[in-house]
Amino acid sequence: MLSRVLLFFGLLGMLAGVALAAPSSERQKQLIHRLKHDCGSCHGLTLKGGLGPPLLPSSLAAREEAELVEVILKGVAGTPMPPWGSELTTEEARWLVRVLKEGVI
Ligand code: HEC
Repeated sequence: MLSRVLLFFGLLGMLAGVALAAPSSERQKQLIHRLKHDCGSCHGLTLKGGLGPPLLPSSLAAREEAELVEVILKGVAGTPMPPWGSELTTEEARWLVRVLKEGVI
């Protein structure tokens, strides 16, 4: 009986963990702001490209989410793309990639 109760709360905890992994709505606003201003300074304010390549859904459609998350967190050595790993968590980078792929902006 006790083990069932523990299992139940264990599962509940996991579900809560998944839900909490998405950035809060306040943080989402900050991330969108950063996307337009910081990322936009190279990728274009409307993300159609500039110094950096376009980040539009059509440009990213064929790219793996994990690969793009890696680029954002680690940057691309030898190019102006800087690493953002000290400012963004993996979950936030993943959320940004989803936003970009969906073309929310
Ligand atoms: C200083 C300029 C600069 C800034 C700021 C910048 N990028 Fe980049 N980014 C680049 C360049 C240049 C590349 C292309 C690297 C290469 O040649 O593979 C790139 C590549 C990328 C790619 C891979 C696109 C592809 O088609 O391969 C993604 C995704 C990306 N950047 C996201 C971001 C995000 C998100 C931010 C803001 C948090 C950001 N970048 C800020 C210059 C920048």
